[in-house]
Formats: sequence, C-alpha cells, structure tokens
Amino acid sequence: MTVSNADPTLVRVLFCRKDRGPMGMSCVGGGVERLLPLVRMGLAARGLTEQVNIGWAACFGYCQHGPNMRIVGGDFLHGVTHETLEDALDRIEQACRTREADHQSEEAVSKD
Ligand code: FES
Repeated sequence: MTVSNADPTLVRVLFCRKDRGPMGMSCVGGGVERLLPLVRMGLAARGLTEQVNIGWAACFGYCQHGPNMRIVGGDFLHGVTHETLEDALDRIEQACRTREADHQSEEAVSKD
C-alpha cells in the first residue's frame, strides 16, 4: 500500500475499495461505495471538509470485517457502516483536533 499525503496539515483517511466479487467478503461487498457519500456529508456537517483528505487503499487484509477505514497515523476501524458512521466521524474529528494542536505547537516553537 502506498500512502502519500502532499499536505501534512490534512488528516488522511483511507478506505479499502477492494471487491472480491459475489462469493467473497470485501469492503465493496460490505457497502464502502455507498458509505463514502455519507462520510463526505458528515464531514461537511462538522465543518471538516477542508481538513480531511480521503483516499483509497487496495486491501488492508481484514476483508471479512469490512468496510475498513484507516486514519493515517491513528485509528484503524473495521465494520464501518451507516450505523457506526457517527463513531467514525468522531474519530476523524478528533484526529483533526490533534493535527491542528500539533500544527499550532510547531508554529509556536518556530516563532521562538
Ligand atoms: S477487501 Fe477491504 S480489507 Fe480486504
């Protein structure tokens, strides 16, 4: 898996989009494609759209627990669905707060 984050001030969130077909458990089979618009709407409702970069990963290796999502440098969430979306958004929001606090600390140190 290649992970790049051109802007280090953004929180990078990766969703697996592997499709193992009708006979295999996978993130696509679990509904990740339907989940993403809800994630984007949830981020917008929380004012986080500009702070989060959403990307795709090929497979995390937890196919039977999908849809799977990873906050780069932080939480790895399994079974993200419409029912657990608010928890996932809470974790993304917390990552944004942590990233912002880290960025402010770095700025304060650089001004000293
Ligand atoms: S299909 Fe998503 S982790 Fe493997």
